[in-house]
Amino acid sequence: MLVVINFGSQVAHLIARRIRQLGVYSEILPHDVSPEAIQKLRPAGIILSGGPASVYEEGAPHVDERIFELSIPVLGICYGLQLMGQKYGKVENKQVKEFGKAALQVKQTTGIFKGLKKEEQVWMSHGDAVTALKGFEVIGSTPSCAVAAVADEKRKLYGVQFHPEVAHTLPGMKILENFAFGICKAEKDFNISDMRKTLVKEIRDEVKEKEVLMAISGGVDSTVAATLIQEAIGDKLHCVFIDHGFIREGEKAEVDAAYRKLFKNYYSVDASELFLKQLEGVSDPEQKRKIIGHLFIEVFEKKAKELEKEHPDIAFLGQGTIYPDRVESAQTSKTASKIKSHHNVTLPEKMKLKVIEPLKDFYKDDVRALGKQIGVPAAILSRHPFPGPGLAIRVLGEITREKLGFLKKADAIFIEELKRSGEYDKVWQALAALFPVKTVGVMGDARTYQYVVSLRAVTSIDAMTADWAKLPYELLERVSTRIVNEVKGINRVVYDLTQKPPGTIEYE
Ligand code: XMP
Repeated sequence: MLVVINFGSQVAHLIARRIRQLGVYSEILPHDVSPEAIQKLRPAGIILSGGPASVYEEGAPHVDERIFELSIPVLGICYGLQLMGQKYGKVENKQVKEFGKAALQVKQTTGIFKGLKKEEQVWMSHGDAVTALKGFEVIGSTPSCAVAAVADEKRKLYGVQFHPEVAHTLPGMKILENFAFGICKAEKDFNISDMRKTLVKEIRDEVKEKEVLMAISGGVDSTVAATLIQEAIGDKLHCVFIDHGFIREGEKAEVDAAYRKLFKNYYSVDASELFLKQLEGVSDPEQKRKIIGHLFIEVFEKKAKELEKEHPDIAFLGQGTIYPDRVESAQTSKTASKIKSHHNVTLPEKMKLKVIEPLKDFYKDDVRALGKQIGVPAAILSRHPFPGPGLAIRVLGEITREKLGFLKKADAIFIEELKRSGEYDKVWQALAALFPVKTVGVMGDARTYQYVVSLRAVTSIDAMTADWAKLPYELLERVSTRIVNEVKGINRVVYDLTQKPPGTIEYE
């Protein structure tokens, strides 16, 4: 394994993820971990993450410097390099911050830079820089950063000022691969079944004799998380599905059938009327999300109380949170701005149960792979992501029963045609949204004045950025024709060509 020591970086998780992608297990440890604790794990290498602090600042996170003397290769990234600078040389504040893409002049194409070109694009984000480092050779520099990469081949200590873990550093994966295999001699033996075993053991160790309650949504994340928890603790898991009325057409029956098969203790709650009533007259997106979030908790708590009476050992709340959820909800940083309140993340705040989130460090592709391993039906695994508030945030503005009905029909046509054409699995997510405006049209010989529906399909890796999907024109035409003909109430269909950023995937 490789360990990643975290100095408060937003992307420490990304480093660990990249290493796992290389087939090597990796774990993130806090900066105050002792060298003895590291040695116990017998890692093949250590990576020091970046971080927002300045090494000389009061209260800046430091690492026990004995880690450099363990005879385990170390790669310092950004702040991690500066910690080496502090020990072996000098770090200075550059006054100007260097942020964004930079051209790296590669001075040697061996070691961690094996296979690189003489010039490579890297991504920088720093204010301080190392200006001197004893015993190290400078192996890369950029126009504004002379010490952009260093190596001490004897002691196997390496440092880069840029971030190899982000996609904008084009040779990033190559550098991490060189470090993991070339330098650390790590073995490619991390796979999904190991991950499954580790997670199951962690859940068992945490839950012990207690029981777990969990709200599951019909989507990939919560289903895989629940299946994993069930594998760990068997029938001590209780799964609740709440139908808030904003799920896709026909979905309730599908979900109920699949879950009854999958879970030993499954409870299905229909609260659709309640949600619709409370949203009457509300058109502000954040307010809609808040109402749905609160009501969801209320309904869930009521069911939870019922279950807790029968099962007094319920002490944990299982959640299907995955890593990008936490990033988008600004959970991973005090400074990141909050874009939307994702109700799956805010859910536990009011509850007294201890939260257990087995997938919190994983990205969607790992979750899918894990789900496949563990026997989650393919129909659930291939499902597009679907927001917690569901179609409520796709009927833009005020929700009425009528508008919701129009949207459900349009959405069902879009999804059906996507599946039929084979395009469904090629896109990350596809949706229809009902705009709160009517436009004029003509049908037969008569004037119509009806709603506009917008189709949106995006390609993405993790929903953090997305591109609009270049769906075939014939498919779009078929969907448009069918919607206008089959959904009384919609007379215009548009296709959304906005990338994220600046647009978000959802409309509210
Ligand atoms: P945005 O619209 O922020 O969406 O680009 C990014 C991804 O998150 C999904 N999404 C949600 N998922 N609860 C969720 O579980 C929510 O409240 C929520 N809001 C948005 C969205 O569908 C997309 O996949």
